[in-house]
Amino acid sequence: MIHELIKTSDGSTSLYIPQLDETYHSVHGALQETQHVFIKNGLQLFDHQSISILEIGFGTGLNALVTYKEHKALELNIRYETVEAYPISWEEASQMNFSEVLSPTLSPIFKQMHCCPWDETVALSPTFSFKKRLQRFETINDVDSFDLIYFDAFGAQVQPELWQEAIFQQMYTSLKQGGYLVTYAAKGSVRRAMQTCGFTVERLPGPPMKREMLRAHKD
Ligand SMILES: C[S@@+](CC[C@H](N)C(=O)[O-])C[C@H]1O[C@@H](n2cnc3c(N)ncnc32)[C@H](O)[C@@H]1O
Repeated sequence: MIHELIKTSDGSTSLYIPQLDETYHSVHGALQETQHVFIKNGLQLFDHQSISILEIGFGTGLNALVTYKEHKALELNIRYETVEAYPISWEEASQMNFSEVLSPTLSPIFKQMHCCPWDETVALSPTFSFKKRLQRFETINDVDSFDLIYFDAFGAQVQPELWQEAIFQQMYTSLKQGGYLVTYAAKGSVRRAMQTCGFTVERLPGPPMKREMLRAHKD
């Protein structure tokens, strides 16, 4: 599929897929969306501990890179696993300006995230292990393995099958008891599908230009 490089409202880059009329991040600010949905309302629930994160959709690597940056300040020890079936090339990823807008010191880490082998665990630092899983979301079958899920699939208007009960049941099973799933989506049908699977769901204020987002708890 063809990807076009775009600049979002906060100056950070993203990709647009003309064929699907879909972007990898909010056009109102890719970095702000990541920081609000996945970091502020997800990662920051934890501090001074060892946690495992499952990301649904590695994409450009923005969520992974911001998590890497934030884990030091929060004194977290992280096992990060990210699932992706249709990876972008390093040539495309290298056009992203994430290291420029976050910190140029992150540039080698970003490259390593994209260029490391699939399905192998890599130590990006003594406190951050990283594994990219070349896999379709539909085949995830982890059990009680993760403290936090970043659910960052394309929107329901593009891939409705990824926002239904079957996937959220897999997510529920993958989480440890007490774990959380965060997503930018806020649709009532998504919230109800999560609740049917056993999640307790909160509606939280959304990132710029979005009223709400969802956080689901396996309590
Ligand atoms: C919204 S983007 C993820 C953005 C990413 N988290 C980031 O920080 O750039 C959704 C991703 O899901 C991937 N994807 C779509 N359908 C998939 C499927 N069925 N299984 C696995 N990956 C899929 C796409 O290739 C895309 O990279």
